[in-house]
Parts: sequence; C-alpha cells; structure tokens
Amino acid sequence: MSMQIGVGFLGAGTVGSVLVRRLIYESDAIAAKTGLDLVVRGIAVRDRAKDRGIVIPPGLLTDRPSEVVDDPTVQIVIEVMGGLDPAGDLVLRALESGKAVVTANKELMASRGRELLAAAETAGVSLLFEAAVGGGIPIIRPLSESLAGERITSVLGIVNGTTNYILTRMVEEGVAYEDVLAEAQELGYAEADPTADVGGGDAASKAAILASLAFGTWVGGSRVTREGIEGLGTEDFESARRLGYTPKLLAIAEDSSEGIAVRVHPTLVPLDHPLASVRGATNAVFVSGPSIGELLFTGPGAGGEPTATAVLGDVITSARERLAGTQVKSRIRFASGRLRDPSGVSIKWLLRMTVMDRPGVLAQIAAVFGRHEVSIKSVWQDGRGDEATLLLVTHESPEGDLHLAADELAGLEVVSAVDSIMRVYDDEP
Ligand code: NAP
Ligand code: HSE
Repeated sequence: MSMQIGVGFLGAGTVGSVLVRRLIYESDAIAAKTGLDLVVRGIAVRDRAKDRGIVIPPGLLTDRPSEVVDDPTVQIVIEVMGGLDPAGDLVLRALESGKAVVTANKELMASRGRELLAAAETAGVSLLFEAAVGGGIPIIRPLSESLAGERITSVLGIVNGTTNYILTRMVEEGVAYEDVLAEAQELGYAEADPTADVGGGDAASKAAILASLAFGTWVGGSRVTREGIEGLGTEDFESARRLGYTPKLLAIAEDSSEGIAVRVHPTLVPLDHPLASVRGATNAVFVSGPSIGELLFTGPGAGGEPTATAVLGDVITSARERLAGTQVKSRIRFASGRLRDPSGVSIKWLLRMTVMDRPGVLAQIAAVFGRHEVSIKSVWQDGRGDEATLLLVTHESPEGDLHLAADELAGLEVVSAVDSIMRVYDDEP
C-alpha cells in the first residue's frame, strides 16, 4: 500500500480549482502513473461560499490560510493565491515548519525568491516554481537543471499570455483593446489585477526569474525595466505591418561582457521571424548559449489547465522526494552584481512622425539623427502637404541617444509630431 502525502492549498481560483479537481477526482490516474497517494487536507480561499465549478468535500474549505500552513498532516503546500502579501509570509512559514512548497507565483519569486530558496535550503525542503513562468511549458527545470552546465548568453521571448492574446486579436481582427482584455480575463489568462499583464509587470517578474536561473546571478523583479502594451494603437499596428513587422511584448535578458541587462517592452519583429507566428496565449522562449546554440521552448503560457499541469508536476516531484527521504539542498546558487542599465543596450527603432512634405525636410531630420549618432536604416513616406506620415527605421542605437534625437526632432518646425517610437528586433544587418 502506498503512503499518503497530505497536500494543502493556498487559493483555489483559476489555477487552484483545476488542481483541486484533479487531486480529488482524478487521483486514481495520478496514483496509477506515479504510485503516489496525494490527499487534499485543506483549501484556503477568501470566500468559502463562491462557486468554483467543482464539488469540494465538506470540511476542506477554510478562509484562514494559517490553518493550512499549520496543519501537521499537510506535507506539501500549494500556493496559488498570488500576490506578495499574505502569500510571501505564508510560504516562508510553511518552509520553516518543514513543509515543501510548490508555487505558481512569479511576482513572489521575482521579489523574494532568493530569500525563500535560502529558507527552503535551511529547512531541507523543496520550493518548486515551474508554473511561475510559461504556464504549462517546462522551462524552470530545464534552466536550473538540464542547462546548469551551459554558459547561457541570452533568454528572449514572449512570456505573457494575456498580452500576446490581446495583440493577436487586435492586430489580426481589429478587436478593441477593452473587449479583448475582458476576453483574456474570462479565459483565465489575466492576473487578478490585469494591469500587471498589460503594464509589463508580469512579464518583468518572469524575465527576472529566467535571467536569475540562466545567468546564475540574482536579478530581482525591480531591476527589470518594463513598458507595457497600453500605449499601442491601430496606427502603430498599421505602420508595423507596412514595413513587414508585427508587435510583440518581448522579454529580453542578455549577459555580455558589459553585464546583465533584462528588459520587457513592446517590440516589432519581422513577419517571417518565428516569434511573429506565436499567437494567442502561447508563449515562446529562445535560450542561447555557445554550446547549445539556440533552444526554443513553446506552448500554452496561461490558463488554468496547462498551469495546473506544471504545478502538479512539481507536487509529484516534491512527493517523490518526501517518500525517498531526500534532504533537498538548494540546487541553485546566485551571485550578486554584474547588472547593467538596459537603457544602454542598443536596438533598432521605428519612429512614426507627422511631417511637412517640403524640399529639405528629410535632410533636416537626417541631420538631427546624425548629431546624436543614430544611423538611419530605411525611410518610408506617405501623403503630401502638412500631413505626410514618415516612417523611419534606425540601425542599432542606445535608448538615450534615440530619445535625445526624438526630442530634438519634435522641436523642428517641419515636424508636427513624433507620434510613436517602437523598438525593432531583427537579425538583419
Ligand atoms: P485567482 O483566480 O485570482 O485565484 C486566487 C485564489 O486565491 C482564489 O481562490 C482566492 O480566493 C484566493 N486568495 C487570494 N487572496 C487570498 C487571501 N488573502 N486569503 C485566502 N485566499 C486568498 O488567481 P489564479 O489565476 O489562479 O493565479 C494564482 C497564481 O498562479 C498567481 O500567482 C498567478 O500569477 C499564477 N499563475 C496564473 C496563471 C493563469 O493562467 N491564471 C498561470 C501561471 C501562473 P477566492 O476564490 O475566494 O477569491
Ligand atoms: N497572467 C499571466 C499571463 C498568467 O497572461 O501570462 C501566466 O503566468
């Protein structure tokens, strides 16, 4: 007969309710595949009366999370509550009392991950967080275990399902921003506060976690510069399409001789780039290193079902470790420092401007770019008279130089407005 492992939940929302269903009603399938008898001992929620779409056996629900954390029959705590408070202190308490913790909380791991992993190591228990990045895509374990011997140089990709879903629907079907955001919330992709998604904060937390694991240097979430997708509009999509690009919210983490830079921002990618065809809530992450070349991890990046699979995998790993009596030593070490300001990193830019269509206008504009050492790659103009639209793509240039040039351009008499500035990511010279 197999030994029972007690499991307690902090949260039973989009992700948690799927997990509760699988652990209570599909436990035979889990036992058949793993030999584990996982038993749900308690489920902490805010509102015990809420309909969760599943029948929860009486006595399991509580609105006091400490009852789950302090329950001596719970050996593994699943934190799918989200946010920093009270989740952070509850996770710490669970670890300190010798319970393994599985969390999907990227905000918490990006903010207190180093402290919590150290606490887990001290207590000799595991803290696993596969679901914190990439939803159902296995990416945390490959980075921290399979690729631990590689000198990873960059991690780049789409790590937020909500914004990728929004951009896909807006660009391909012209759906209004508010409508498509509401859809993403209904589908269970968005965070409880969706400003974390659309403002780039969720992707920044994930980028911080990925960079920390990839480079072996702690990158706190607050060290990631971020811009969201709220400012993008139909005209930006149209300019991008005209020049052969599509907008994506990219997370880019690079380790070079100048240090580590991690950033999240809307970026135009060429229509024939593999990231351009990553649609809906799908995520895709390229990991590069000198020996592996380039690896691509892709799959469902958000939603209750895929995320629950990632959490369940960690629960099964924790349970196996418990049964084997393994004293888990933190397998991850982080150095400090080596972080650089991402605004110094060079990238190409697309500027959309409203200009007067007169002889000499382009020369004036080119002179401004020249003064700020920004080199022009291509120019496209449409319209005549006072309302000509000028699309201009630069070669790689640091953000600081580009913004100085843009400020000076906005002051030219022949430039009515610098309407938008977007980054461009492509491999072309
Ligand atoms: P959610 O639907 O908002 O669920 C949160 C759950 O936690 C709810 O059951 C809520 O109770 C409970 N809760 C929140 N604060 C509480 C408190 N102070 N005391 C007791 N219970 C509390 O969130 P979710 O989408 O499942 O996400 C959970 C975590 O997984 C987050 O960290 C998120 O970032 C991460 N994640 C989500 C996805 C996704 O696609 N949704 C994917 C990957 C990772 P009530 O139900 O009573 O309100
Ligand atoms: N809100 C997140 C997203 C959930 O849209 O990607 C998955 O982490």
